[in-house]
Amino acid sequence: MKITICFDSQPPEPWVQAVQQAFADAEVYAWTPGAAQADHAIVWAPPQQFIDEQTGLQTLFNLGAGVDALLQLKLPPSLKVVRLDDAGMSVQMAEFVCHAVIRHFRELDGYDADTQAGKWTYRKPRSRTDFAVGVLGLGVLGERVAKALQVFDFSVNGYSRSPKDLPGIRCFSGAQALPDFLAATRVLVNLMPLTPETENILNKDTLSQLQKGGYVINVARGKHLVDEDLLALIDSGHLAGAALDVFRTEPLPADHVFWKHPKITVTPHTSARTLRQESIAQIMGKIQALQRGESINGVVDHQRGY
Ligand code: NAP
Ligand code: GLV
Repeated sequence: MKITICFDSQPPEPWVQAVQQAFADAEVYAWTPGAAQADHAIVWAPPQQFIDEQTGLQTLFNLGAGVDALLQLKLPPSLKVVRLDDAGMSVQMAEFVCHAVIRHFRELDGYDADTQAGKWTYRKPRSRTDFAVGVLGLGVLGERVAKALQVFDFSVNGYSRSPKDLPGIRCFSGAQALPDFLAATRVLVNLMPLTPETENILNKDTLSQLQKGGYVINVARGKHLVDEDLLALIDSGHLAGAALDVFRTEPLPADHVFWKHPKITVTPHTSARTLRQESIAQIMGKIQALQRGESINGVVDHQRGY
């Protein structure tokens, strides 16, 4: 069996070594133009040339949950694309989002500023019932995040394409239900995949339907959010601020207004990192399952876009 590895920027060597250790009998190599045909590939945002040359692939494993970069390429429709299916990401996402929600709800940035200034001041406790959290996307990550938020007694709404029934979570589905979901939500967490349907979904129209004092946590993709619309709604006072982990251009350009905005917290696309050992173990399990003729989770629907 031949396995090739191709990344857009980071060096593949540590992955080549780790995959080789996991698959002792396989031939594992970093892809370069003209490399031998592989049976399986492990990739993150490969160039079109990689797809055009590797015509014998049985499976293309994407080293992330989001496949938007991959689906921008011209792929053979029959190519089996497999996304990472949690692999240690959902617990990271749950801790990151709970932290962001709690930091906002408990006004911890304000306390930080006060204590930095040597001030011992109290803020009036806010009512949890005024801070319903809405999770856009109830997939592998969104469901875990929604359940984690319930532990802190937040009232949680969830939104997905297909109907869900999750205990204690008010579930909304389909475009016609989006206005009701937004109207019931004060803190919005975006965990949808980036597809033609969801691009720019966080815009003036949708964000203005959030409850007054709304707060936006975007941990999915930068292209979901219309930056200017977020800024305008913060300026108008309708939104209280945002925690942004993903951006239209990454790294976020040095002169972007988000960096220094007093009501926006920026992190460098780090809410749920790809973990090497967990990811390789998952890919190994899937290759073995495919060899036994079994079906696997995480196969991407090219048409749906996730
Ligand atoms: P997933 O399992 O595919 O879940 C996607 C969810 O979004 C599903 O509930 C799906 O509905 C829903 N959805 C998709 N299109 C929709 C639409 N048009 N309207 C309403 N709901 C829609 O994906 P995941 O593993 O949870 O990951 C979500 C995204 O997180 C990834 O695509 C990636 O962009 C992002 N991510 C970011 C980081 C980071 O570090 N910032 C890390 C990992 C992932 P159904 O359930 O009905 O299909
Ligand atoms: C990271 O953004 C991922 O999609 O896994």
